[in-house]
Amino acid sequence: MTDDELEAKLGDRDYYRPPAKFVGQANASDPAIYDQFDEFPEGFEAYAELLDWDEYWDETFDGSNPPFFEWFVGGKLNASYNCVDRHLDERGDQTALLWESEDTDERRRIAYQDLYREINEVAAALKDLGVEEDDVVTLHMPMLPELPITMLACARIGAPHSEVFAGFSADALATRIDDTESDIVVTVDGYYRRGEFLHHKQKADQAVEMAETDVDDVLVWTRHGPENLHEEAEMEDGRDILAEELLEDFQGARVDPVSRDAEDPLFLMYTSGTTGKPKGCQHRTGGYLAYATGTSKYVLDIKPEDTYWCAADIGWITGHSYIVYGPLSLGTTSVMREGAPDAPHKGVIWEMAERYDVDIFHTSPTAVRMFMKWGEEIVENYDFDFRHLTTVGEPIQPEVWEWYYEHIGGEDAVIVDTWWQTETGGHLITNLPALKDMKPGSAGIPCPGIEAGLVDDQGEEIEPATGQAGNLVIKRPWPGMLQTVYGDDERFIETYWEDFSDTESSDWSDWNYKAGDGAVHETDGYFRILGRLDDVMNVAGHRIGTMELESAAAEVSDVAEAAVAAREHDQKGEVPDVYVTVREGVEESDGVRSAIYEAIEDEIGAFARPANVIFVDELPKTRSGKIMRRLLEEISNDESLGNTSTLRDPSVPEQIREKVHGE
Ligand code: WT7
Repeated sequence: MTDDELEAKLGDRDYYRPPAKFVGQANASDPAIYDQFDEFPEGFEAYAELLDWDEYWDETFDGSNPPFFEWFVGGKLNASYNCVDRHLDERGDQTALLWESEDTDERRRIAYQDLYREINEVAAALKDLGVEEDDVVTLHMPMLPELPITMLACARIGAPHSEVFAGFSADALATRIDDTESDIVVTVDGYYRRGEFLHHKQKADQAVEMAETDVDDVLVWTRHGPENLHEEAEMEDGRDILAEELLEDFQGARVDPVSRDAEDPLFLMYTSGTTGKPKGCQHRTGGYLAYATGTSKYVLDIKPEDTYWCAADIGWITGHSYIVYGPLSLGTTSVMREGAPDAPHKGVIWEMAERYDVDIFHTSPTAVRMFMKWGEEIVENYDFDFRHLTTVGEPIQPEVWEWYYEHIGGEDAVIVDTWWQTETGGHLITNLPALKDMKPGSAGIPCPGIEAGLVDDQGEEIEPATGQAGNLVIKRPWPGMLQTVYGDDERFIETYWEDFSDTESSDWSDWNYKAGDGAVHETDGYFRILGRLDDVMNVAGHRIGTMELESAAAEVSDVAEAAVAAREHDQKGEVPDVYVTVREGVEESDGVRSAIYEAIEDEIGAFARPANVIFVDELPKTRSGKIMRRLLEEISNDESLGNTSTLRDPSVPEQIREKVHGE
């Protein structure tokens, strides 16, 4: 895109002032906060001070071995203690987790003291199963209170958890089990989605079967109690343990929180990259918790007396940082819900917001587009009043932003567009809501202490705030950043650092973190995120690597080659189109097509299901044989075809175009 084209696409947008009623009560209301955090690294101590430490740190930041940066070195703390124990005196009776199911008759309020009791009992049970400090525990749990309870029980005993989103297939679960060689998996027999009681345990059964790792124990929570196990669930003797039955032995048990080094890992979260293999982003205890807590306080404006609802799934990083760790560390009431947003009816989100008097609501642009499609008439039936709204995960189109502002915010709530990633642990680019005006479609300025910038493809710095586009980089370390890719320091360096850093240098300031996103740095200093520059798609706010999709499609024996292109989609942002060639002698058929859909659902999960499978005679390839996905993307989006002169056969894209769009 040329600068002129960009300008035409973006245009000038209005600013919106934060409402006075918000500003008056905001946690961050003094602009000096930006200057305080510019003192690097001392600025970030303010976040660490929000936590209770068993031992204070000696050194705030150690940058001597880039890019393996360390934070709050020498400090000791426990995340479960910080999220629960420390609130007991003051707010033991206050609701920590407020859970509802699709079936709105079923509700649970878990007070901090109940959470404390349950976490302790689960921690004791895990220990009994032989889980020791630093053992990785794999979780494959949907949105049930037992998920955060198990996570915090792991944190209590210093066992890093690795939660795999419940929508992931058995295959995907097996890959993640093997990557950490985790010998215990925690799951549930079933859960509800759109009125259906899904048989979930089977995925863990199959995964354990498939994995090379010997999984000794599968701890099985039950949705309706051990006596009402999902009718298809089977328990394997000697391996499967019913959690509730095991817990009978640990009623009232107490487990001292292990004092963890600030640099000890707290959890892993796998994410897609540009290869077929997902990366285990490893997050540290002290820096991560400090960053999640600090941004929850100042960006999300959470106060202990709030009812806060982030409608994400805890199986993704958003849920880890902003349903569990950040909000609970601040001692607030965090809402969670099982099921689909339109079950049992399309107004249920707002019905709940009204019922619980939710103050802060956090969701994705995909969800807002869906609410918009359902129509404002639905929203108008309910009496709720938010002071703060968040969006995360994808760029939000200004017209979607405006709808959110008007119909959900009632024109008197702030909207905070938060840009960050699984790797970053917490928000990096977003406005502190009382201090900066909102601008629809722009994430805003970097968070306190964060230094963001743009570089060109050669790594040359692009003049800041000149309205130019480039590769988004973070120029200074921050406490929430991933420590490494689990078990693969090389890949950590290659993926995030090599391209735009002086890797010979031992000076941390020569190292730039590559986000993988394109962005425009607007003249007002705001960043407008354009989206991924690598082969990673953003489907309904979920990151999916094209390579993962392609290798799944190529598993089908009739498929010769597969290439995936991102098609723009007005609801989901992007959806995958799979272009395939079949092997010699194989007919293109609906059978092959279904096999491809099935392979992708099996290898990744139903959420990655492609929009279209398109059979072609040949894929567009350069003379050296490289598939040009860019051309496929142009075809999928019915855009004019760019340069085809480097192709081995320049007529190929036109043939494909005709096939997709007709003559
Ligand atoms: C990618 C990270 C951690 C948030 C949930 C997704 C895109 C994220 C925004 C935003 C535009 C955004 C980027 C980023 N993204 N937030 N506010 N505006 N794009 O986490 O799965 O690690 O994906 O999501 O492309 O790189 P993730």
